[in-house]
Amino acid sequence: MRFAVLASGNGTNLQAIISAVKSKKIKAQLGLVVSDKKKAYVLTRALKAGIPVTVVDPKKFKTREAFDKAVIRELKDFKIDFIVLAGYMRILSPYFVKAYKGKILNIHPALLPSFKGAHAIKDAFDYGAKLTGVTVHFVDEKVDHGPIILQEPVIIRPQDTLKTLESRIHKLEHKLYPKAIQLFSQGRLKIFGRKIILR
Ligand code: GAR
Repeated sequence: MRFAVLASGNGTNLQAIISAVKSKKIKAQLGLVVSDKKKAYVLTRALKAGIPVTVVDPKKFKTREAFDKAVIRELKDFKIDFIVLAGYMRILSPYFVKAYKGKILNIHPALLPSFKGAHAIKDAFDYGAKLTGVTVHFVDEKVDHGPIILQEPVIIRPQDTLKTLESRIHKLEHKLYPKAIQLFSQGRLKIFGRKIILR
């Protein structure tokens, strides 16, 4: 199994995935990193690890679907079997989701269905929630919605700042995502409606 990571930012999740591939905690092959931002640090991390990268610039496309079709062409060129979104700050078109149905994983820094969207850690912190966490889920046509693969809580302590909370959430992400990727690539996740059964 070969997978691609799609990412827009810093790439700490990519880094954790690269380590897990190197140490064989993930037995699938990381074949490509795709970004929509040519200056994203995630690209530097990928290149340092010797992983092919490609940048697809959204400004060159009139619609989300046209952009996604260009990304899919890259995925096909690199013979990618499944996709891992790691801080990919774009909503996938229904066309993309259909093309890789049940084969796209996403990580979200909150306990879905709470605090969906692009600023989940800050939203939970500002809301005064006592508990947040991390969710790894399959991607479906709705945003931050697909069946949940792994989910773990993080307690928000009274003395937390946004920074300390972010750091605990990222630490948990770096543990959960490689685990979910390995489970998926071994064919151990069976989807029954919204429920995932571990085989
Ligand atoms: C991660 O916290 C990830 O959960 C979040 O972006 C961050 C990327 O960090 N994704 C979302 O908020 C998606 N809605 P990274 O670039 O260091 O891996």
